[in-house]
Amino acid sequence: MKIAFFDTKEYDRTAFEKYGAERGMEFRFLETKLGPDTASLAEGCDAVCVFVNDDVSAPVIDRLYELGIRIIALRCAGYNNVDIKHAYGRIHVVRVPAYSPYAVAEHAMALLLTSIRRIHKAFIRTRDFNFSLNGLTGFDLHGKTVGVIGTGKIGSVFADICRGFGMEVLAYDKFPSNPNVKYVELDELFEKSDIISLHCPLTDETRHLICRESMDKMKKGVVIINTSRGALIDAEALLAEIKSRRIGAACLDVYEEEADIFFKDYSGHIVDDDLLARLISMPNVIVTSHQAFLTREALDNIADTTTDNILSYFNNDGICKNELCYHCGKVEECMKNRPQKCF
Ligand code: NAI
Repeated sequence: MKIAFFDTKEYDRTAFEKYGAERGMEFRFLETKLGPDTASLAEGCDAVCVFVNDDVSAPVIDRLYELGIRIIALRCAGYNNVDIKHAYGRIHVVRVPAYSPYAVAEHAMALLLTSIRRIHKAFIRTRDFNFSLNGLTGFDLHGKTVGVIGTGKIGSVFADICRGFGMEVLAYDKFPSNPNVKYVELDELFEKSDIISLHCPLTDETRHLICRESMDKMKKGVVIINTSRGALIDAEALLAEIKSRRIGAACLDVYEEEADIFFKDYSGHIVDDDLLARLISMPNVIVTSHQAFLTREALDNIADTTTDNILSYFNNDGICKNELCYHCGKVEECMKNRPQKCF
């Protein structure tokens, strides 16, 4: 079984080679991202494996279909980069629904603590033997209110961590399901939170959830954390609100236009994205490059589940419990409910 593996990094190779060898898979590791110009590199392979910034739009799906590919295995949870509607009836799409909610939730807390206790500033100062404390004053998390938007696997773990710090947790979810959090309307969450953390998926509805209008409802000095998807925040509006001092700090693991920038080394180059450069230049903005998932445990789980998904597809008559469901509306015929493959 041969799998074309796009957007490969060294840590992917290490994790996947172990499971690939055990499960009879041969990987064609490609450094390039999947897109209309690179889809042909999958020729001769049985499956394609992609990550968050690969382009799985309609033309790419069509080209892969022409090449005989019938399964795309996402090695991530989010799938906003896949045209699911177009894939339906052509190519099955499987994903890793959960690999370590702790990895992402803990990273969100790490960003928050780094930001409000100025750890990033202190680290640079003491390396230069500058032991001054001026400008490093932070604030206690204990007693503060955190607003968690999206209380699925990651948001729920983040809420637990925050409670451990003695914070009051308010939550908003379109489909509330966590009995341990206090759900409020979105506007109330915006108005009352000292810190807001985003853990919902990127959909048409949540795109630019954080925009000028919603930020105007927030407390002055609020800290915004985004470890979910970049386009949940209108980055230009965020910069404006940081400059107007309404937003106290932003902790960003994801960025709207990250696809061509994140995961690559641009040190020594001139980055053309002025908006990102301006955000990074702000003393109260911390950016990590979509790193929240990156723990040993998560990488191992991703490799295990992804290879298992592919095996299940090929050895189990195309049936894989982690197949993405394109809600086709054919209730009577829905194969997913049986459970079988989607089409
Ligand atoms: P999940 O599916 O368990 O939870 C998502 C929650 O968002 C659900 O409770 C759902 O009801 C809620 N939701 C859906 N639409 C909503 C809306 N319009 N408004 C408010 N809430 C809404 O997903 P999980 O595993 O907790 O992941 C959350 C997000 O984290 C993913 O969508 C993905 O984009 C991101 N992620 C980021 C990673 C990183 O490395 N930075 C790694 C893994 C996931």
